[in-house]
Amino acid sequence: MARRTLIAGNWKMNGSVSSLDFFDAIAPAARNSQAEILICPPSTLLYQAAQACAGSGIRVGGQDCHARQSGAHTGDISAPMLREAGASHVIVGHSERRADHGETDALVRAKSEAALEAGLVPVICVGETREEREAGRAVEVVASQLAGSLPEKSRDMPLVIAYEPVWAIGTGLTASVDDVANMHSAIRECLPDPLTTCILYGGSVKPGNAADLLGLDDVDGALVGGASLKSIDFSAIIAAVSRKSEPLR
Ligand code: PGA
Repeated sequence: MARRTLIAGNWKMNGSVSSLDFFDAIAPAARNSQAEILICPPSTLLYQAAQACAGSGIRVGGQDCHARQSGAHTGDISAPMLREAGASHVIVGHSERRADHGETDALVRAKSEAALEAGLVPVICVGETREEREAGRAVEVVASQLAGSLPEKSRDMPLVIAYEPVWAIGTGLTASVDDVANMHSAIRECLPDPLTTCILYGGSVKPGNAADLLGLDDVDGALVGGASLKSIDFSAIIAAVSRKSEPLR
């Protein structure tokens, strides 16, 4: 079955109520695209963002969730809470979470499982550092992150994988199309449902490089940080999706 292209925006710790007109601004590009469009705003804006895009087909997601459903975890947000606020997806294991909060593969796996249990699609992020790539270990590192971060029972589960080389995030650098193609095909070999699982590329995706990256066979979409903050740039990335898409199962 064909995989539907997914263009996801990660606003990170950016945005305010005044940013919500973004949804109207990208609506024409979203309407004209076969791709699924997802925006992950900060959790303070999630409910309002879900209201702002109601009926447009655009979806909203969380940027992280706790591994438990509720409890004494000050400052954390659970997957059911995100779901209730209107999320369909949640990013887990982003390299900024792994680096800033010391998140391990085991924790990312627990979060992925919590997401699935709450009815959310986990967008599981993996990616090597510059040192690891230079040492020729990129594929090995990413394969090991996948082995540790995917939910225990992941067959037939609605998972999304995001390959984001750490050195490409927010730096303006992107992996070469050959490196992305090789990595995505290596990732696909590690997945229990290789034919149906959507694999995104992330790391300085912008209007100028989106068509080349999205044109690769094993690239099923993009996870976009900086360029998802500007509706013009994000709309241009959506417009770069040329591949014919079919609905997800
Ligand atoms: P970037 O971020 O597009 O700003 O590089 C991507 C991400 O962190 O998901």
